Amino acid sequence: MSRKKFISEVFKSTGTIGALSPSSSFLAKKMLAPIDFDNAKCIVEFGPGTGVFTKALLKKMSPDAKLLTFEINTAFIDELKTIEDHRLEIINDSAEKIKQYIEAAGFTSVDYIVSSLPFAVIPDEIVHRILTNSDDNLSENGRFIQFQYSLNAKKKLESYFSEVKINFTPFNLPPAFVYNCKK
Ligand SMILES: C[S@@+](CC[C@H](N)C(=O)[O-])C[C@H]1O[C@@H](n2cnc3c(N)ncnc32)[C@H](O)[C@@H]1O
Repeated sequence: MSRKKFISEVFKSTGTIGALSPSSSFLAKKMLAPIDFDNAKCIVEFGPGTGVFTKALLKKMSPDAKLLTFEINTAFIDELKTIEDHRLEIINDSAEKIKQYIEAAGFTSVDYIVSSLPFAVIPDEIVHRILTNSDDNLSENGRFIQFQYSLNAKKKLESYFSEVKINFTPFNLPPAFVYNCKK
């Protein structure tokens, strides 16, 4: 998807995208760094957009692992559908519905959730449901990995997860903080 088309989706989306361009490969590397790909069998992605992290995840995942991506923007869904990989399930629904889809895919829990959701622009009650359901559906050693453009999400994430570590990359527009949260 061209940058022009991405920006036109931003204006049509009434604030649900929360970025002016897709993330950089540098940010993708930081987001995926905490993942133990040898042992990850079920990975969930929230807000894949044009698929920067989706493609990076698929490159590193084991042949028998599964990736479920939740995206509400139908133009991005069309873009994601061009990725041909039997391990990928593209779900055109909101992240808060995680439980019903992981169960339908035959899993009882998720090893990692990689989230790009723009918490600053999503209503509080929806963020609350997304974070509660994420924590509930993570496996014992599961991790919720989220990027944001500020440190404002730290307190909120600490109230849902037992530990929150923060990493940073200046090589993204805008520069981004990566929150690595333990169940
Ligand atoms: C900041 S963009 C990130 C796109 C991409 N992952 C990247 O980093 O370039 C956030 C994405 O979250 C999606 N989104 C917003 N609310 C959502 C929700 N409740 N469930 C699933 N996706 C959502 C938007 O449509 C958008 O594609």
